[in-house]
Amino acid sequence: MSFYEDKIFPYALDIALVGIKQARKDLISSAEGRILEIGMGNGANLAHYSDKADEVVGIEPCAAMVEMASGRLDKLHQKSKLKLKREQYDLQVGSGEELPYDDNSFDSAIACLVFCTIPNADKAAAEMHRVLKPGGKVLFLEHVHAKSGLKRHVQNWVNPIWKPLACGCNLNRDTKTVFSNAGFDNETIDEINHHPMLLPLFSSVIRGVAIKR
Ligand SMILES: C[S@@+](CC[C@H](N)C(=O)[O-])C[C@H]1O[C@@H](n2cnc3c(N)ncnc32)[C@H](O)[C@@H]1O
Repeated sequence: MSFYEDKIFPYALDIALVGIKQARKDLISSAEGRILEIGMGNGANLAHYSDKADEVVGIEPCAAMVEMASGRLDKLHQKSKLKLKREQYDLQVGSGEELPYDDNSFDSAIACLVFCTIPNADKAAAEMHRVLKPGGKVLFLEHVHAKSGLKRHVQNWVNPIWKPLACGCNLNRDTKTVFSNAGFDNETIDEINHHPMLLPLFSSVIRGVAIKR
């Protein structure tokens, strides 16, 4: 990983995503059982798990982000701000495209602003499907390609410039289709426009629950 990816981007993320703090809380606090968070980044979601969680396993390919997330957890634990015990969290370096976990071994998965970035999103969705138990849920909050209009075209035009600046993030992913191709039912899905994220180019957001058939 480069200096930019290790030392600048993780902090820039916190600033860029400050507007979705409440959406994070709403998403994460409903997760239950043994939970897998794919691409947990610098750990912005970790404080929001409720006592409905038995275990939180986070996987993230950038070692510097995993280190930041672990440090964040330690601080939250010291300040008694976690609803879970510190040992109920297990953060690992690894890729969502090759999950080192058994089939049917998680109750829930979290996909928060990550399917924009995973290089092979189809493979990661298939892996997430494999490790979830039947009836297991993906709770997701993802920015996606606008359905139509000028914004959809602008996202395509800007993407080649944006992607290297944002460490691989794409503005034009169709994550809803990625999930349904992997075998998930999109049980509930809100498509939100003008979500309070930093840039209008991010403002096509889907959030909801996808269930393993
Ligand atoms: C925009 S950040 C979001 C981080 C975090 N989920 C959040 O809500 O703040 C995208 C994250 O996806 C991670 N990522 C990139 N490739 C990945 C992969 N193959 N598997 C899992 N995560 C990946 C990046 O390292 C980065 O932490």
